[in-house]
Amino acid sequence: MTTILVTGGAGYIGSHAVLALKQAGYEVIVLDNLSNGHRELVEEVLQVKLIVGDMSDRALLDNIFTTHNITAVMHFAAYIAVGESVTDPAKYYHNNVTGTLTLLEAMLAASINKFIFSSTCALYGVPKFVPITEDHPQDPISPYATSKWMVERILSDFDTAYNLKSVRFRYFNAAGADPNGSLGEDHEPESHIIPLVLQAALGKRESISIFGTDYPTPDGTCIRDYIHVTDLAQAHVLGLEYLLKEGDSEVFNLGNGSGFSVREVIETALQITGKEIKIVECDRRPGDPPILVGSSDKATKILGWHPQYPNVEEIISHAWQWHQKRHG
Ligand SMILES: NC(=O)c1ccc[n+]([C@@H]2O[C@H](COP(=O)([O-])OP(=O)(O)OC[C@H]3O[C@@H](n4cnc5c(N)ncnc54)[C@H](O)[C@@H]3O)[C@@H](O)[C@H]2O)c1
Repeated sequence: MTTILVTGGAGYIGSHAVLALKQAGYEVIVLDNLSNGHRELVEEVLQVKLIVGDMSDRALLDNIFTTHNITAVMHFAAYIAVGESVTDPAKYYHNNVTGTLTLLEAMLAASINKFIFSSTCALYGVPKFVPITEDHPQDPISPYATSKWMVERILSDFDTAYNLKSVRFRYFNAAGADPNGSLGEDHEPESHIIPLVLQAALGKRESISIFGTDYPTPDGTCIRDYIHVTDLAQAHVLGLEYLLKEGDSEVFNLGNGSGFSVREVIETALQITGKEIKIVECDRRPGDPPILVGSSDKATKILGWHPQYPNVEEIISHAWQWHQKRHG
């Protein structure tokens, strides 16, 4: 059996990728320091081996790579809060860049040369055109996005110098939950719109804020591209298979290709939950572009990836199912 090390597999997207890998017949080992992850998702729900530790612990990594016959690494581990990265950039560069560098060096020492990386559409900065394609200019505007941009540069140089092959996935807004209800999004603190609205629907929050109602969009609120987490997970399996067939290093956007406004998301959530949610209209946040929508044509063409759950109703109902179970 082919064994894959999944860093950050106790987190939101990583845990869904572990499920997809298991369903595709791979053996999985999760490395997670549980700074933001959930032990029970790995041990009880997914029932795969969890190594609790940090990706910057080189001795631990060497031990993992010598004890287990690992073919490829899927790397989800990172800090993800954009706002915090502005107030504490050292934390983000240290974990997301230095930690990843340590992981890559340990892989090279163990002669593992297949790597799948969670990057972000945030590295494009304020879009110059939409839908954004992979060749859109890069201009990250937060330390979080810059940390991902830096790792992408490292990966490109490591391919040239050390033949380390990578697939870099630039996600748009990951959302939704496993349709069977076993996994879902549980960040603390939460900053993503869909879980925030659902928490408000469950009475865990007093209100939901809309940042900016005067954008040049049909209803004045920002438009974003929401991609179902199960579709993201499936793309990772396809990316892995691409590398296993000796594919060259590549970068792919992963999005839906269509956008929904913040107001549309809130209204859809209201219909699905049947609850009243207090909406507070606030000023724009600095650095929020009006429209962020990606083209994933390249992933479709090269990997054969087709999102199974492209509509926002399904994304929100799967998330709602999970939220009721987890927090209801
Ligand atoms: N959620 C999104 O919409 C989104 C969008 C673009 C990119 N991404 C990227 O996808 C990846 C996963 O995001 P997520 O939403 O699942 O985040 P998450 O916080 O739920 O998962 C990250 C996991 O990594 C673990 N971790 C962090 N630092 C670690 C370290 N040093 N050693 C070991 N484990 C560590 C955390 O405990 C957590 O379980 C991240 O790299 C993120 O930057 C996410």
